Amino acid sequence: MLRNYYLTTPLYYVNDVPHVGHAYTTIIGDILTRYQRMLGNSVCYLTGTDEHGLKIERAASNSGLSTQEFTNQNSAAFQDVWNKMKLDFDEVVRTTDLKHIETVRSVFKIIKDNGYIYVGEYSGQYCVRDESYVAADLTICPECGGKTELIREESYFFKLSAFQKKLLAFYRDNPNFVLPKSRLNEIVSFVERGLKDISISRTSFSWGIPVPQNDQHIFYVWFDALLGYLSGVGFTSDKKSFDKNWPTNIHIMGKDILRFHGVYWPAFLMAANLEPPQQLLVHGWWTINGEKMSKSLGNFITAQQLIDAIPLDAIRYFLVREISLGSDGNFSI
Ligand code: ME8
Ligand code: MG
Repeated sequence: MLRNYYLTTPLYYVNDVPHVGHAYTTIIGDILTRYQRMLGNSVCYLTGTDEHGLKIERAASNSGLSTQEFTNQNSAAFQDVWNKMKLDFDEVVRTTDLKHIETVRSVFKIIKDNGYIYVGEYSGQYCVRDESYVAADLTICPECGGKTELIREESYFFKLSAFQKKLLAFYRDNPNFVLPKSRLNEIVSFVERGLKDISISRTSFSWGIPVPQNDQHIFYVWFDALLGYLSGVGFTSDKKSFDKNWPTNIHIMGKDILRFHGVYWPAFLMAANLEPPQQLLVHGWWTINGEKMSKSLGNFITAQQLIDAIPLDAIRYFLVREISLGSDGNFSI
């Protein structure tokens, strides 16, 4: 069977509109897509939006819209900008799509049947901006510098600790798993330091996918969102498409989300008897005055402002030429 070259952008949070950073990742994917097509390969290029979790729920409540209206509006803003930038996709997944919800519940059941899920209590600090659990004693997030919040609640746990050896063997057998290579070293040393089991459900808010048979719990937004790479190509809805696309050839992303893709994601897949991705392409950050451009910080130039100011070809040329892939670049107009 003819295999697709399957590549993805991250599934972007819909807490605000797309900016230069999102355009950058998505243009890199478009360039790789065109290159693969030029070689005569059939390609599946997927993008999408990450619409659940506390960060989105709070952004929606500040907007005055219902959470569903808010996510509809912002996910449409992403699509609108990609259309204007002439970026074409084969699949666009929203984590509020029914086929996605079914995928998350189904993968959870497989992982649970395989013995990698248990119920416990999570107690520790959480960074809402990064939707990330941080060390128990840190009130400031080591990644983004934001304030963390204390959580203590019943939670389903994923036995990440059971995958330390398998992950290290996987990195050793696949030395090109992460590009640039220096980024592979980062995750290898993270895993070598030892892996703790991770909490994959929450009970203190409701905007998310309920855990099967226990709908007090909703899935942790990263367990939910990563599975979008499965649902988008038909894990539960279109077996033929799924077989043609899996495993992913390349996930493109910024360095902010390397650990989720390089450690958690292959472990979730191994736990579900699915093949991990072949490669992660990890680029640097666009900054403004040395600070990461970010929806949460509000210090961004929107993709729409970029389109209004500069011709499309020039945007593409500038963004990919200005910085070598992997480094940071400072932006001003
Ligand atoms: O992390 N410079 O979504 P997100 C370069 N929903 N690229 C940037 C950037 C910047 N300043 N800011 C953002 C999430 N990006 C999760 C992903 S995937 C299953 C879930 C780009 O909206 C870059 O690709 O915060 C980065 O990794 C991504 O947007 C993060 O987007
Ligand atoms: Mg982010």
